[in-house]
Order: sequence, then C-alpha cells, then structure tokens
Amino acid sequence: MTAIVPPTDATLEQAAALLRQGGLVAFPTETVYGLGADAGSDRAVARLYEAKGRPRFNPLIAHVPTTAAALREGRFSAAAQALAEAFWPGPMTLVVPVADAGRVSRLARAGLDSVALRVPAHAVAQALLRRTGVPVVAPSANRSGGLSPTTAAHVEAGLAGRIDAVIDGGACPLGLESTILACLVGDPVLLRPGALPREAIEAVLGRPLAQGAVAPGAPVAPGQLASHYAPRARLQLHVADAPAEGAALLDFGGRLAPWRTGRTYDDLSATGDLREAAARLFAALHALDASGAALIGVAPVPMAGLGLAINDRLARAAAPRPV
Ligand code: TXA
Ligand code: MG
Repeated sequence: MTAIVPPTDATLEQAAALLRQGGLVAFPTETVYGLGADAGSDRAVARLYEAKGRPRFNPLIAHVPTTAAALREGRFSAAAQALAEAFWPGPMTLVVPVADAGRVSRLARAGLDSVALRVPAHAVAQALLRRTGVPVVAPSANRSGGLSPTTAAHVEAGLAGRIDAVIDGGACPLGLESTILACLVGDPVLLRPGALPREAIEAVLGRPLAQGAVAPGAPVAPGQLASHYAPRARLQLHVADAPAEGAALLDFGGRLAPWRTGRTYDDLSATGDLREAAARLFAALHALDASGAALIGVAPVPMAGLGLAINDRLARAAAPRPV
C-alpha cells in the first residue's frame, strides 16, 4: 500500500522515520517530485532502483537541506562554490568529486568517484530533509524512462504499490528537472539543461558554459539513454502548421490554434511565456497521453532561456523507444 499524505508535522516526522528505516518516500521539490531513499543505505538504494525499474549504471542525485551539508559530501572547486552560493537552495545540481567522509553510497553513485548534489528550495523538501538528517537520493518519482511527475497523482499513477508513501505538496512550481553541472576538472560543464537557465549560470561564471560529457569516455548525464521522459504517444516536433490528421496538439503561443477544432488540444502558454510552458510541460504531456492520442504534434518552442530545457525534454520524449 502506498499512503498519500498532506505535509503536516506528524506526516513529515513519519516520512523521515520511514526514510531512515530504508523506506521509499516520494516528495515534492520546486522542479519535479522525487522518490527519496537514504543515500547511505545500499539496501534502500537497491530498492529504489528496483521500484523505478532504473538501469543501475545511472547514478542518483543526493539531496541535502543546506550548502554546508553539501560541502561535507563533495569537494567543491572555487567555481562550484560560487555556483552553490548563487543558486542554492534552488533548481541546480552539481556533480563534484566525492569527499573522503561522504555518506552517499557507492551504489547510489553507480560506482563513480563523483557525487551529484542538490539543495532544493521547496518548503516540503526542506522540512523533510531537515528532519531526516541524512542525504536523501531522489530521482524523479516515475518508472524509468517515463514522464517526470509534477503532481502527487502522477506519482501514484506510476508507482502506487511500489513505494511506501507520497507527500502531496501540490503541483511543482517549476515543473522541469534541475540543471546539472559537472564541476570536476577545469571549467564547469553543462550536463543537463534544466529549470535554472544557462544564461543565469553564465552570468555568475562570467564566461560561456561548455556543454557535454565530463571527459571523453566518462558517463554523460541524463540523456545517455536514447529515449527518456517518454509518453506512450508518438511525438512530432516543430509542427508549425498543417498538423497530421487526427493528431493531438501541444501548442505554444497559440500557433496551432487554427487547427484545434475536433482535436485534443493544449497550449503550454497561450501568451508565449517560457516559464509557464516549463511548469506545464510534463502535466500537459501526461494529460494528452491519457487522452489516448496515438500522435501528438508539438509546436516550435524558442531556444532561449528555459526553452533550451523544454526542447531537450521534448526531443527525448520524441526519441525512438527501446524495445
Ligand atoms: O530536479 C531534479 O533534478 C529531480 C528532483 C527530484 O531533484 N531529480 C532528477 O533525478 O531529475 P534523476 O535521477 O531523474 O536525474 C539525475 C541525473 C541522472 O540522469 C544522472 O545521469 C545524473 O543526474 N548524474 C547523477 N550523478 C552523476 C554523476 N556522478 N556524474 C554524471 N551524471 C550524474
Ligand atoms: Mg528522471
């Protein structure tokens, strides 16, 4: 049985106890819902991989309530410290060399000598992490390869019966996963575009951000799996006019509105606001998918600011599926 509970002092205390005992608890962050487990417990982490159906080589993000706690888990370069100072708590994950006294288990790190760390800002995540008192790994609370959840109902639809509890803190305000940066050797590298726009990071670093793998042959970040964030329906991207017969439409800025009659239709943001579009992206895909459409035509989304992350998620959702 999976209990869905509102965040109260009592439920947060119970959830923290569950986590310390090796349980799996889903909770809201400002990006998406995470599925939490004690980062230091191989047993809990193994259960987490199993519940998600996640390939074991894909490492997890460890969540802590403060930058001070993060500094105990990893070794921060000057650039990493500047980023932490500027953007934590918030929608940013830093991959740094693991500290000697770090508590995140090797299994959670998929055997790497680096660790991914995040200090979320969401009040419920903060309250839970403070009460738990240990780093909590939390991948997005969906079955591996599926759409990321931005509501407790999404979590339940994918994971009911496989996890111990869901804390329902309402819809996630940002709706897109955190931006992941590697701060390993040399300048920071963008591993996954996300809810923190690249431009904001470049303003703090004072230089353009390189994108891609940490080092040749090293594990890249999240996109190494061909299809990710995938709905059941097939996606056709950059549909600027004349969508395919019968396709459901996911619009941006009203561009496809002339073709909406008789179709399942949603607009990420009728006013063309990228922040609104990011916050609604996964919920809109969930809903269009649930309508049973075989094909979803998606309007073009500009490649600036949050548009980078939105286009990244759309491209993954449209990628060929593993069979
Ligand atoms: O917004 C988010 O980041 C959400 C919320 C719950 O915090 N979490 C999330 O986690 O999206 P997940 O597990 O779905 O994505 C984490 C990604 C993985 O795909 C993995 O490739 C990358 O982070 N990652 C983790 N540790 C890494 C490491 N040591 N080196 C390179 N990439 C790493
Ligand atoms: Mg995920």
